[in-house]
Amino acid sequence: MSKKIVLSGARPTGAIHLGNYFGALHNWVNLQDKYDCYFFIADWHALTTGYADTESLREHTVSLMADFIACGLDPDKSVIFLQSQVPEHAELFLLFSMNIPLSWLERCPTYKDQLNQLKEKDITTYGFLGYPCLQAADILMYLADYVPVGEDQLPHLELTREIARRFNHLYGKTFPEPQPLLTEAKVLPGTDGRKMSKSYDNTIAFADTPEEVRKKVMNMVTDPARIRKTDPGHPEVCSVYSFHKVFSEAEYEEIGRACRAGEIGCVQCKKKLAEKLAEFHTPIHEKRTKLLEDPAKLEELINKGSAKAREIAVETMKQVRAAVKIGLEHAE
Ligand code: TRP
Ligand code: SF4
Repeated sequence: MSKKIVLSGARPTGAIHLGNYFGALHNWVNLQDKYDCYFFIADWHALTTGYADTESLREHTVSLMADFIACGLDPDKSVIFLQSQVPEHAELFLLFSMNIPLSWLERCPTYKDQLNQLKEKDITTYGFLGYPCLQAADILMYLADYVPVGEDQLPHLELTREIARRFNHLYGKTFPEPQPLLTEAKVLPGTDGRKMSKSYDNTIAFADTPEEVRKKVMNMVTDPARIRKTDPGHPEVCSVYSFHKVFSEAEYEEIGRACRAGEIGCVQCKKKLAEKLAEFHTPIHEKRTKLLEDPAKLEELINKGSAKAREIAVETMKQVRAAVKIGLEHAE
Protein backbone atom coordinates (compact mmCIF):
# COMPACT_ATOMS: atom_id res chain seq x y z
CA MET A 1 0.00 0.00 0.00
CA SER A 2 1.33 3.42 -0.83
CA LYS A 3 2.10 5.75 2.04
CA LYS A 4 -0.19 8.59 3.01
CA ILE A 5 0.95 12.07 2.05
CA VAL A 6 1.95 14.65 4.65
CA LEU A 7 2.67 18.29 3.89
CA SER A 8 3.61 21.29 5.98
CA GLY A 9 5.42 24.57 5.60
CA ALA A 10 7.09 27.40 7.49
CA ARG A 11 7.69 31.02 6.59
CA PRO A 12 11.29 32.21 6.32
CA THR A 13 10.97 35.02 8.83
CA GLY A 14 14.16 34.44 10.83
CA ALA A 15 15.98 31.89 12.94
CA ILE A 16 14.07 28.85 14.16
CA HIS A 17 13.75 28.87 17.96
CA LEU A 18 12.96 26.19 20.52
CA GLY A 19 9.26 27.15 20.46
CA ASN A 20 9.11 26.44 16.71
CA TYR A 21 11.06 23.25 17.20
CA PHE A 22 8.87 21.71 19.89
CA GLY A 23 5.69 23.11 18.35
CA ALA A 24 6.24 21.72 14.86
CA LEU A 25 9.62 20.73 13.50
CA HIS A 26 10.21 17.99 16.05
CA ASN A 27 7.00 16.27 14.88
CA TRP A 28 7.88 16.66 11.22
CA VAL A 29 11.15 14.85 11.83
CA ASN A 30 9.29 11.89 13.33
CA LEU A 31 6.81 11.66 10.46
CA GLN A 32 9.45 11.14 7.80
CA ASP A 33 9.61 7.34 7.92
CA LYS A 34 5.91 6.68 8.09
CA TYR A 35 4.64 9.04 5.40
CA ASP A 36 5.51 10.54 2.04
CA CYS A 37 6.48 13.95 3.36
CA TYR A 38 6.63 17.35 1.71
CA PHE A 39 8.06 20.21 3.74
CA PHE A 40 8.52 23.63 2.28
CA ILE A 41 9.70 27.17 2.85
CA ALA A 42 6.72 29.46 2.31
CA ASP A 43 8.47 32.56 0.98
CA TRP A 44 5.38 33.92 -0.78
CA HIS A 45 3.54 33.69 2.52
CA ALA A 46 6.35 35.71 4.11
CA LEU A 47 5.54 38.46 1.59
CA THR A 48 1.90 38.68 2.73
CA THR A 49 3.01 40.57 5.83
CA GLY A 50 6.62 41.41 4.90
CA TYR A 51 6.30 42.68 1.33
CA ALA A 52 7.89 46.03 2.20
CA ASP A 53 11.11 44.61 3.60
CA THR A 54 12.60 41.84 1.51
CA GLU A 55 16.23 42.65 2.35
CA SER A 56 16.77 39.45 4.39
CA LEU A 57 14.35 37.15 2.59
CA ARG A 58 16.97 35.14 0.69
CA GLU A 59 19.25 34.90 3.70
CA HIS A 60 16.33 33.67 5.82
CA THR A 61 15.39 31.15 3.15
CA VAL A 62 18.83 29.57 3.13
CA SER A 63 19.19 29.66 6.92
CA LEU A 64 15.76 28.05 7.33
CA MET A 65 16.97 25.21 5.12
CA ALA A 66 20.02 24.87 7.39
CA ASP A 67 17.77 24.80 10.47
CA PHE A 68 15.51 22.20 8.84
CA ILE A 69 18.41 19.85 8.12
CA ALA A 70 20.21 20.47 11.41
CA CYS A 71 17.00 19.59 13.26
CA GLY A 72 16.69 16.30 11.39
CA LEU A 73 14.71 16.84 8.21
CA ASP A 74 16.40 14.64 5.63
CA PRO A 75 16.35 15.62 1.94
CA ASP A 76 16.80 11.94 1.04
CA LYS A 77 13.63 10.97 2.89
CA SER A 78 11.39 13.99 2.38
CA VAL A 79 10.82 16.44 -0.42
CA ILE A 80 12.06 19.74 0.99
CA PHE A 81 11.38 22.66 -1.33
CA LEU A 82 10.89 26.38 -1.80
CA GLN A 83 7.40 27.64 -2.64
CA SER A 84 8.49 30.31 -5.13
CA GLN A 85 10.52 27.69 -7.05
CA VAL A 86 7.28 25.87 -7.82
CA PRO A 87 5.26 28.53 -9.65
CA GLU A 88 2.37 26.09 -10.15
CA HIS A 89 1.31 27.07 -6.60
CA ALA A 90 0.55 30.55 -7.94
CA GLU A 91 -1.54 29.16 -10.78
CA LEU A 92 -3.64 27.00 -8.47
CA PHE A 93 -4.01 29.96 -6.08
CA LEU A 94 -5.32 32.02 -9.00
CA LEU A 95 -7.87 29.40 -10.04
CA PHE A 96 -9.11 29.03 -6.44
CA SER A 97 -9.36 32.81 -6.12
CA MET A 98 -11.91 32.84 -8.94
CA ASN A 99 -14.49 31.02 -6.88
CA ILE A 100 -13.76 31.50 -3.18
CA PRO A 101 -16.32 33.87 -1.68
CA LEU A 102 -14.72 36.92 -0.06
CA SER A 103 -16.74 36.25 3.08
CA TRP A 104 -14.86 32.97 3.71
CA LEU A 105 -11.60 34.89 3.83
CA GLU A 106 -12.91 37.88 5.77
CA ARG A 107 -14.35 35.76 8.56
CA CYS A 108 -11.13 33.80 9.07
CA PRO A 109 -10.05 34.37 12.71
CA THR A 110 -6.34 34.64 11.85
CA TYR A 111 -7.17 37.41 9.39
CA LYS A 112 -9.02 39.48 11.96
CA ASP A 113 -6.41 38.85 14.69
CA GLN A 114 -3.46 39.81 12.54
CA LEU A 115 -5.13 42.98 11.28
CA ASN A 116 -5.48 44.02 14.92
CA GLN A 117 -2.02 42.91 16.01
CA LEU A 118 0.15 44.09 13.14
CA LYS A 119 -1.08 47.68 13.29
CA GLU A 120 2.34 49.07 12.39
CA LYS A 121 2.25 47.37 8.98
CA ASP A 122 -0.29 48.02 6.27
CA ILE A 123 -1.62 44.55 5.62
CA THR A 124 -5.00 45.57 4.28
CA THR A 125 -3.83 44.02 1.03
CA TYR A 126 -5.32 41.63 -1.46
CA GLY A 127 -2.44 39.18 -0.87
CA PHE A 128 -2.84 39.09 2.88
CA LEU A 129 -6.58 38.49 2.63
CA GLY A 130 -5.75 35.63 0.26
CA TYR A 131 -3.25 34.00 2.66
CA PRO A 132 -5.43 30.91 3.34
CA CYS A 133 -6.26 30.58 -0.36
CA LEU A 134 -2.53 30.31 -1.16
CA GLN A 135 -2.13 27.88 1.73
CA ALA A 136 -4.93 25.73 0.29
CA ALA A 137 -3.08 25.68 -3.03
CA ASP A 138 0.12 24.54 -1.24
CA ILE A 139 -1.70 21.68 0.43
CA LEU A 140 -4.01 20.51 -2.33
CA MET A 141 -1.26 20.62 -4.98
CA TYR A 142 0.27 17.48 -3.47
CA LEU A 143 -3.11 15.86 -2.70
CA ALA A 144 -2.03 15.77 0.94
CA ASP A 145 -3.88 13.49 3.36
CA TYR A 146 -2.48 15.06 6.53
CA VAL A 147 -1.18 18.45 7.52
CA PRO A 148 0.72 18.64 10.82
CA VAL A 149 -0.11 22.09 12.15
CA GLY A 150 -0.62 23.85 15.44
CA GLU A 151 -4.05 24.82 16.72
CA ASP A 152 -3.67 28.34 15.36
CA GLN A 153 -3.67 26.94 11.81
CA LEU A 154 -6.84 24.85 12.14
CA PRO A 155 -9.11 27.51 10.58
CA HIS A 156 -6.85 27.52 7.51
CA LEU A 157 -7.17 23.79 7.20
CA GLU A 158 -10.94 23.96 7.55
CA LEU A 159 -10.94 26.54 4.77
CA THR A 160 -8.72 24.29 2.66
CA ARG A 161 -11.32 21.52 2.93
CA GLU A 162 -14.08 23.94 1.97
CA ILE A 163 -12.06 25.10 -1.02
CA ALA A 164 -11.46 21.49 -2.10
CA ARG A 165 -15.17 20.70 -1.74
CA ARG A 166 -16.22 23.71 -3.74
CA PHE A 167 -13.75 22.93 -6.51
CA ASN A 168 -14.85 19.29 -6.63
CA HIS A 169 -18.48 20.37 -6.74
CA LEU A 170 -17.91 22.83 -9.59
CA TYR A 171 -15.52 20.81 -11.75
CA GLY A 172 -15.67 17.18 -10.67
CA LYS A 173 -13.79 15.28 -7.99
CA THR A 174 -10.17 16.41 -8.14
CA PHE A 175 -8.94 16.96 -4.57
CA PRO A 176 -9.06 14.94 -1.34
CA GLU A 177 -10.04 16.73 1.88
CA PRO A 178 -6.89 16.91 4.00
CA GLN A 179 -7.04 16.36 7.75
CA PRO A 180 -4.96 18.02 10.46
CA LEU A 181 -2.38 15.89 12.21
CA LEU A 182 -2.40 17.05 15.80
CA THR A 183 0.55 15.48 17.54
CA GLU A 184 1.29 16.21 21.16
CA ALA A 185 3.49 19.24 21.32
CA LYS A 186 5.73 20.02 24.26
CA VAL A 187 5.10 23.53 25.41
CA LEU A 188 8.06 25.72 26.20
CA PRO A 189 7.48 29.28 27.36
CA GLY A 190 9.83 32.08 26.41
CA THR A 191 12.64 33.15 28.74
CA ASP A 192 10.28 35.71 30.32
CA GLY A 193 7.43 33.25 30.92
CA ARG A 194 5.23 34.48 28.06
CA LYS A 195 4.74 32.47 24.84
CA MET A 196 8.08 32.11 23.03
CA SER A 197 7.93 34.51 20.12
CA LYS A 198 10.34 36.65 18.15
CA SER A 199 8.14 39.67 18.67
CA TYR A 200 8.57 39.36 22.47
CA ASP A 201 12.35 39.02 22.21
CA ASN A 202 12.27 36.02 24.56
CA THR A 203 13.45 33.20 22.31
CA ILE A 204 16.30 30.73 22.38
CA ALA A 205 17.26 30.05 18.77
CA PHE A 206 19.51 27.46 17.17
CA ALA A 207 21.40 30.44 15.74
CA ASP A 208 22.35 31.51 19.29
CA THR A 209 25.85 30.51 20.36
CA PRO A 210 26.25 28.20 23.37
CA GLU A 211 27.48 31.21 25.37
CA GLU A 212 24.39 33.25 24.44
CA VAL A 213 22.15 30.36 25.41
CA ARG A 214 23.85 30.06 28.79
CA LYS A 215 23.38 33.79 29.44
CA LYS A 216 19.73 33.63 28.41
CA VAL A 217 19.14 30.75 30.82
CA MET A 218 20.85 32.60 33.68
CA ASN A 219 18.58 35.62 32.99
CA MET A 220 15.35 33.61 32.84
CA VAL A 221 12.36 34.71 34.89
CA THR A 222 11.74 32.51 37.96
CA ASP A 223 9.21 32.46 40.78
CA PRO A 224 9.05 36.17 41.77
CA ALA A 225 8.13 35.24 45.36
CA ARG A 226 11.55 33.69 45.94
CA ILE A 227 14.21 35.98 47.28
CA ARG A 228 16.38 33.72 49.44
CA LYS A 229 17.27 30.14 48.64
CA THR A 230 15.37 28.96 51.73
CA ASP A 231 12.08 30.59 50.61
CA PRO A 232 9.71 27.83 49.50
CA GLY A 233 9.33 28.12 45.70
CA HIS A 234 6.42 27.60 43.29
CA PRO A 235 7.93 25.74 40.35
CA GLU A 236 4.63 25.70 38.45
CA VAL A 237 4.91 29.47 37.83
CA CYS A 238 8.61 29.29 36.89
CA SER A 239 9.78 29.15 33.28
CA VAL A 240 13.05 27.45 34.31
CA TYR A 241 10.95 24.61 35.67
CA SER A 242 8.95 24.33 32.42
CA PHE A 243 12.27 23.89 30.63
CA HIS A 244 13.43 21.26 33.13
CA LYS A 245 10.26 19.30 32.32
CA VAL A 246 11.43 19.02 28.73
CA PHE A 247 15.19 18.74 29.17
CA SER A 248 15.70 17.05 32.56
CA GLU A 249 12.99 14.43 32.37
CA ALA A 250 14.58 12.06 34.88
CA GLU A 251 15.26 14.73 37.45
CA TYR A 252 12.52 17.22 37.10
CA GLU A 253 10.32 15.91 39.90
CA GLU A 254 13.24 16.04 42.29
CA ILE A 255 13.96 19.61 41.20
CA GLY A 256 10.34 20.54 41.87
CA ARG A 257 10.48 18.98 45.31
CA ALA A 258 13.75 20.71 46.20
CA CYS A 259 12.37 24.06 45.02
CA ARG A 260 9.18 23.75 47.07
CA ALA A 261 11.21 22.73 50.12
CA GLY A 262 13.60 25.67 49.71
CA GLU A 263 16.56 23.34 49.29
CA ILE A 264 17.80 24.49 45.90
CA GLY A 265 18.65 28.03 44.86
CA CYS A 266 17.57 29.51 41.53
CA VAL A 267 21.14 30.08 40.39
CA GLN A 268 22.02 26.45 40.95
CA CYS A 269 18.79 25.36 39.31
CA LYS A 270 19.54 27.47 36.24
CA LYS A 271 23.09 26.12 36.03
CA LYS A 272 21.69 22.60 35.92
CA LEU A 273 19.31 23.61 33.17
CA ALA A 274 22.04 25.35 31.18
CA GLU A 275 24.00 22.08 31.16
CA LYS A 276 21.05 19.96 30.06
CA LEU A 277 19.96 22.45 27.44
CA ALA A 278 23.47 22.65 26.00
CA GLU A 279 23.49 18.87 25.42
CA PHE A 280 20.50 19.34 23.15
CA HIS A 281 21.22 22.75 21.65
CA THR A 282 24.97 22.71 20.94
CA PRO A 283 25.03 19.81 18.42
CA ILE A 284 22.18 21.34 16.40
CA HIS A 285 23.77 24.79 16.57
CA GLU A 286 27.08 23.36 15.35
CA LYS A 287 25.45 21.45 12.53
CA ARG A 288 23.56 24.51 11.31
CA THR A 289 26.69 26.68 11.53
CA LYS A 290 28.63 24.15 9.46
CA LEU A 291 25.86 23.91 6.86
CA LEU A 292 25.79 27.69 6.54
CA GLU A 293 29.49 27.72 5.71
CA ASP A 294 28.47 26.39 2.30
CA PRO A 295 25.32 28.26 1.23
CA ALA A 296 25.78 27.12 -2.38
CA LYS A 297 25.32 23.53 -1.26
CA LEU A 298 22.14 24.48 0.63
CA GLU A 299 20.83 26.25 -2.47
CA GLU A 300 21.57 23.14 -4.50
CA LEU A 301 19.57 21.02 -2.05
CA ILE A 302 16.68 23.49 -2.24
CA ASN A 303 16.79 23.40 -6.04
CA LYS A 304 16.82 19.61 -6.12
CA GLY A 305 13.89 19.33 -3.71
CA SER A 306 11.96 21.97 -5.63
CA ALA A 307 12.49 20.08 -8.90
CA LYS A 308 11.03 16.94 -7.28
CA ALA A 309 8.06 18.89 -5.92
CA ARG A 310 7.54 20.44 -9.31
CA GLU A 311 7.15 17.08 -11.01
CA ILE A 312 4.11 16.42 -8.84
CA ALA A 313 2.81 19.98 -9.19
CA VAL A 314 2.96 19.84 -12.99
CA GLU A 315 0.94 16.60 -12.99
CA THR A 316 -1.67 18.03 -10.61
CA MET A 317 -2.04 21.15 -12.75
CA LYS A 318 -2.70 19.01 -15.84
CA GLN A 319 -5.61 17.40 -13.98
CA VAL A 320 -6.78 20.76 -12.68
CA ARG A 321 -6.71 22.43 -16.11
CA ALA A 322 -8.60 19.52 -17.61
CA ALA A 323 -11.21 19.68 -14.83
CA VAL A 324 -11.70 23.45 -15.26
CA LYS A 325 -11.59 23.08 -19.06
CA ILE A 326 -9.19 26.00 -19.30
CA GLY A 327 -6.59 26.32 -22.06
CA LEU A 328 -6.29 23.87 -24.94
CA GLU A 329 -7.33 20.28 -24.93
CA HIS A 330 -4.00 19.31 -26.46
CA ALA A 331 -1.70 21.76 -24.76
CA GLU A 332 2.03 21.28 -25.35
N1 TRP B 1 0.61 29.37 7.50
C1 TRP B 1 1.71 28.54 7.96
C2 TRP B 1 2.35 29.23 9.17
O1 TRP B 1 2.25 30.42 9.33
C3 TRP B 1 2.74 28.33 6.88
C4 TRP B 1 2.16 27.58 5.73
C5 TRP B 1 2.01 28.06 4.46
C6 TRP B 1 1.68 26.26 5.74
N2 TRP B 1 1.45 27.11 3.66
C7 TRP B 1 1.24 25.99 4.40
C8 TRP B 1 1.56 25.27 6.73
C9 TRP B 1 0.69 24.76 4.08
C10 TRP B 1 1.00 24.05 6.39
C11 TRP B 1 0.56 23.80 5.07
O2 TRP B 1 2.98 28.55 9.95
FE1 SF4 C 1 12.41 28.02 39.36
FE2 SF4 C 1 14.38 26.39 39.95
FE3 SF4 C 1 14.15 28.76 41.21
FE4 SF4 C 1 12.40 26.83 41.70
S1 SF4 C 1 14.60 26.78 42.12
S2 SF4 C 1 11.91 28.98 41.31
S3 SF4 C 1 12.25 25.83 39.71
S4 SF4 C 1 14.59 28.42 39.05
